[in-house]
Amino acid sequence: MSEVLHFPRGFLWGAATAAYQVEGAAGEDGRGDSIWDTFCRLPGAVVDGHTGDEACNHYHRYREDVALMRSLNLGSYRFSTSWPRIQPDGRKTNTAGLDFYSRLVDELHAAQIKPWLTLYHWDLPQALEDDGGWANRDTAYRFAEYALAVHEVLGDRVDVWTTLNEPWCSAFLGYGSGVHAPGRQSRPDALAAMHHLLLGHGLAVTELRQLAPKAKLGLTLNFTVVDPVDPNDPADLDAARRIDGQFNRAFLDPVFHGAYPADFLADVAKYGLGERIFPGDMNTISAPIDTLGVNYYHGEAVTGHPRADAGNAHAAPVERELAPPYPAADQVSVVPRGLPTTAMGWEVQPEGLYRLLTRLQEDYSGPAGTALYITENGAAYDDVVGPDGSVEDPERLEFIRAHLFQCHKAIGAGVDLRGYFGWSLMDNFEWAWGYHKRFGLVRVDYTTFERTVKASGSWFANVAGTNSVRAGM
Ligand code: FCB
Repeated sequence: MSEVLHFPRGFLWGAATAAYQVEGAAGEDGRGDSIWDTFCRLPGAVVDGHTGDEACNHYHRYREDVALMRSLNLGSYRFSTSWPRIQPDGRKTNTAGLDFYSRLVDELHAAQIKPWLTLYHWDLPQALEDDGGWANRDTAYRFAEYALAVHEVLGDRVDVWTTLNEPWCSAFLGYGSGVHAPGRQSRPDALAAMHHLLLGHGLAVTELRQLAPKAKLGLTLNFTVVDPVDPNDPADLDAARRIDGQFNRAFLDPVFHGAYPADFLADVAKYGLGERIFPGDMNTISAPIDTLGVNYYHGEAVTGHPRADAGNAHAAPVERELAPPYPAADQVSVVPRGLPTTAMGWEVQPEGLYRLLTRLQEDYSGPAGTALYITENGAAYDDVVGPDGSVEDPERLEFIRAHLFQCHKAIGAGVDLRGYFGWSLMDNFEWAWGYHKRFGLVRVDYTTFERTVKASGSWFANVAGTNSVRAGM
């Protein structure tokens, strides 16, 4: 028996991408280098030396891609603007770069697709990195100026503004472990970057709010749902507390409660975060937001004891040596639970999403009156192309279905969840993994750039078109 689950009227169905992962056209129309351009040229940084130079060629194929979105019944497209396309040196605006997004937004409106704009999905102008990057406080102010420059041109046609995508990754993968650009491996720099990213978010929200009181402003965070391997073992409980603190609460508490968690501050005390926090910063960072974007892929079980079967769920198999992403969790290991895994090695744990959403609603977004949207969820699998060019991807379809089931359950429990964006609209450049991991609802042939809707994409179109999902039980 399969039950049909209906979503609330007006629930927003979309798909997401990010500029560096799909656009290509890296040297066109005055675009400057980003930290990802530089990082990709670093030997051993990205698997097989892949780069985003061409990516999916979305820059030139955006019309076709918008038509594809329409055929998938999408109500919204979540994309990011490339800071170095718009401000090649991180300061002066390049009209030709901004024009691309103007054309894209017009095309979306013509197709009745709501543009969901993210200002920063990891591609810092290299010129700003040369001045210290996110470890330099000044970058936060440059970011707010950039937000205003984009708003000046697109503000009349875009009403949802997301400042940052996953600042945890920018700070701790970019400046801590070094698996992401700019590839630094410094705990003090990672913590400084975290604070300055949050400050940049708060400054941008404050400025945009004044200019556009009706705009929907927010940010997207990535979350984990962390369980101690043994809930009665103090070492495992401490491990879970640390990861929850350094991954989830270090971002949620400043944004919603105006303070870093005390246990987190104690954990990282020796790395100088305290000196980075200036009077007034926490007030700026906790400027009220309308939307919180939730990116959820998987949770994890952790232990505080050394384990032979421990893994690093976040690392790509690159040649460069990597450091741990967490500044204060060296004794913590992630322990596989025997759950099925995706091609990323991530455990498939849909029930974690329910726990996450209800927790956010109760402790953070609910009291603040902030609406929740899933801004990313999806899975990489090793797709096989059939003789007729089609892609049957039942695992991805079931992954999404299982997570939608949990979304529906959370809404039933009172969570103010208003939309779901699949990651990703199409296969794309998966950061340090290069093009080896495919997350798309649509397949991309990287030789011809041809797009083919996968079976999961057709199924998702039906979900979006009917505002319902068959539970498949
Ligand atoms: C998220 C990123 C996104 C994509 C997915 C798989 O962390 O925001 O760009 O790489 O993971």
